[in-house]
Amino acid sequence: MPPTNGRDETRLIRAGGTPQTLARTVGPPIQKGSTVLLPDAASLYDDESQLTYGRQGLSAQFALRAALAELENANGVTLYPSGLAALTGALLAVLKAGDEVLVTDAVYKPTRRFCDQVLKRFGIAVRYFDPRQSPEEIVGGASDAVRMILMESPGSLSFEMQDVTRVAELARARGILSVADNTWGAGYLYKPLDHGVDLALQALTKYVGGHSDIFMGSAATRDPKLVQALEDGVMHLGWAVTGEDAYQMLRGLRTLPTRLARHGESGLAVAAWLRGRPEVAQVYHPALPGCPDHDLWKRDYAGACGLFALALQPGPEGAVNAFLDELKLFGLGFSWGGFESLAVSCDHQLKTRKFRRDYGGPLIRLHIGLENPDDLIADLQRGLEVYATQAA
Ligand SMILES: Cc1ncc(COP(=O)(O)O)c(C=O)c1O
Repeated sequence: MPPTNGRDETRLIRAGGTPQTLARTVGPPIQKGSTVLLPDAASLYDDESQLTYGRQGLSAQFALRAALAELENANGVTLYPSGLAALTGALLAVLKAGDEVLVTDAVYKPTRRFCDQVLKRFGIAVRYFDPRQSPEEIVGGASDAVRMILMESPGSLSFEMQDVTRVAELARARGILSVADNTWGAGYLYKPLDHGVDLALQALTKYVGGHSDIFMGSAATRDPKLVQALEDGVMHLGWAVTGEDAYQMLRGLRTLPTRLARHGESGLAVAAWLRGRPEVAQVYHPALPGCPDHDLWKRDYAGACGLFALALQPGPEGAVNAFLDELKLFGLGFSWGGFESLAVSCDHQLKTRKFRRDYGGPLIRLHIGLENPDDLIADLQRGLEVYATQAA
C-alpha cells in the first residue's frame, strides 16, 4: 500500500487499515469494528440490505449464524451474548402486553426469574405447567390469551421430558407458538424445528462452546416472520456478540459431534453404575433404559449428552455436602457442557417449583466430562461411601 500523505498524526490514522483481499483460511476472519465504512454517500441511507454498523455482526458472526442455521435446519438464527439473553430476547421479540405464556415448571431457574419479575411487569401473564402433564392437558388447559408455550425437555435439574412434537402440533392448531430451550440437545442430539417447534433456543455456552469459557445463546426458526421478529428484537434491544467469541463458538461446532459422543457414552456408563449402588435411590437420565421418559428420548433423540441427575437415599444436607466435598474429579459449580465433570446439589433450587415432587431423596446433578469414566466412577464411589457413613 502506498504511504498516505500528511504528517505522522494523519498517516497513523490511515495506516494499517483493512486489506483489500484476505488470505483464505479455514475459519472466517475475525473482524473487529464498530464503524463500517460505506462506499459512497448514497449508500449511507439508501441500501437497506447493506451492513452499516458493526453491532449487526461481521464476518465471524455471520459465519456462525450460517453454520448454526445448518445445524438446526433453520432459515434464520440470531445470536445473543448469553443463553439467558437468547431466552429473554426471543420472548421479548414476540410477546406483547396482554399475552399469556405457559412455561414448564422444570424451566432453567433464571428463565423463571425473568418470567416472574420482568414479563409480569410488562403485562404478560405467566403460568407454569407440570412437566409431567400430557400434551393434551398442557395445550387443552390454555386460555385464549396464551400466545406461547415454553418447553425445556429434558427439564433443568429433574430431566422430565415433554412430547414436544405433540405439544407443538396441538399448539399450532390453536395459533400458539411453541418454543424449546434445547440446550441439552445442543441442536445436534435433537432438532426441535424438525419436530414442528417454532423457535429453538440454546445456550451455546454449554456444549457448542464446550470449554466453559464463553457465553452465547442462539434462537433458530424456519418461519420468515419469526426470523424478522427475532432480528428486529436483537436490533431494538441492542444485543451484540464479539467476533472473537463467535469464532470460538465456530471452533466448538467443529468438534461438537465428537465431544457429544464421548460425553454421552461416559454419562451412560456412570449413570448405569450409579443405578446399581445402594446409596442411590433413583437415576434420572432419559437415555438410560428404564429411566423416566426413556421412550420419548428413544423416539426423538440421536444420542445423549453428559448431563443427568441422581437421587441419593434420603439423608441430611450435611451428608449430601460431605459427598460433594469428597469428590476430587468433579468440580462443584454451575453450568455444564465443558470438557470437565461437575456436580451440584439441586434441592435449594427445586424449592421455587410450583409442582413439588419427591425424587426419592436429595437430588444431585452431574455433568460427565471427557475424563476416563472409570476414574470418575472411582471418585463417585469414594463420595458415596462417605455419604453412607454420614447419612447412617
Ligand atoms: C437449560 C439452560 N438454558 C439456558 C441457560 C443459560 O445459559 P447462559 O449461562 O449462557 O446464560 C442455562 C445455563 O445453565 C441452562 O442450563
